[in-house]
Amino acid sequence: MKGLFSAVLASAITGVFALPSPTENGPITARAAQAACATPVTIGSGNPFASRTIYANKFYSSEVVSAAAAMTDTALAAAAKKVADVGTFMWIDTRAKIDIVEDTIKDVPCDHIAALVIYDLPGRDCAAKASNGELAVGELDIYKSQYIDPIVTIFKKYPNVAIALVIEPDSLPNLVTNSNLQTCKDSASGYRDGVAYALKQLNLPNIAMYIDAGHGGWLGWNDNLKPGAKELATVYKTAGSPSSVHGFATNVAGWNSFDLSPGEFSKATDAQWNKAQNEKTYVTLFAPELKSAGMPSQAIVDTGRNAVTGLRKEWGDWCNVNGAGFGARPTSDTGSSLVDSFVWVKPGGESDGTSDSTATRYDSFCGKDDAFKPSPEAGAWNQAYFEMLVKNAKPAF
Ligand code: BGC
Repeated sequence: MKGLFSAVLASAITGVFALPSPTENGPITARAAQAACATPVTIGSGNPFASRTIYANKFYSSEVVSAAAAMTDTALAAAAKKVADVGTFMWIDTRAKIDIVEDTIKDVPCDHIAALVIYDLPGRDCAAKASNGELAVGELDIYKSQYIDPIVTIFKKYPNVAIALVIEPDSLPNLVTNSNLQTCKDSASGYRDGVAYALKQLNLPNIAMYIDAGHGGWLGWNDNLKPGAKELATVYKTAGSPSSVHGFATNVAGWNSFDLSPGEFSKATDAQWNKAQNEKTYVTLFAPELKSAGMPSQAIVDTGRNAVTGLRKEWGDWCNVNGAGFGARPTSDTGSSLVDSFVWVKPGGESDGTSDSTATRYDSFCGKDDAFKPSPEAGAWNQAYFEMLVKNAKPAF
């Protein structure tokens, strides 16, 4: 563990300070200009993160810089500011957000990779309320023509930029375990058709895609591994087995440790039914199932907010967990050949859901004892929560 953390820290430092200092090599603007790729990028089948640092997008960086500027504790503010340098995924969670996609990818240097989340399916978040989206069940045509197609058009303008995508968090996992809910029954065909369409259209040489596969406490249960792998692989094959798909994403916006052993919930009475007690084990169990179901099986794991364990009452508690801290920095030095990279998918500081019980999107999970309160609507900035993540970060900033 200690070795892993020092490797992570070393790579984060390299990532931040790799470029020459302004005094050595002229102004910062000149450094950015020299860094873009001169020819189209072909990611191929290898690890897209092995020789590329995840780009710290302006959208999250500016949220962080403003948050740090609002802090009165100068030591904390100095630590907080460093979060702006951590490459974090940008969520395209509405059609309106498409407006900032171009700005997010246009300046990405050649040794970096842009990172975005595709997240706007009709009937979104069918098993919860906090992240219900703008498109209703049945609006698949809008998803295709007004969401996926315009994003593809922008990506095609930037063939010289490497791009990593997480595809539709929670959607297919919900179809595996929550198909008893009417909302998920209603969403099912739109999720499958929508994800297949996204995979097919986004299949470009400069793109690497990872389909969301929940986490160890979700599809990691013994009985969920095979059905989970089948669900993902079927959609992948429906899309024509696109070569840009590298595998799956785990722990997105989640809290599970990567390799804590014994795992956080290993003493629970039902632990015998789940061997995936940490994300490393989950990946080890899920990848072969995916492979035999006919889908590529490399993983990326969200370590953005998983520094502190022992906070949740139950494994399924997902909303603004109180006491959390920023986790291991993004790195391709993961210690597992199955895991391409640790990634920060959920931008820490953005809420998982509102704690206002009168709100339309109020979900009772955001009112639980282990959830941080008050919390704003999903995606909105929560300054106090961000400060807590900085204070509890491991490694520290
Ligand atoms: C929200 C999105 C937001 C994302 C990242 C999700 O829970 O529903 O609106 O963009 O989190 O913060």
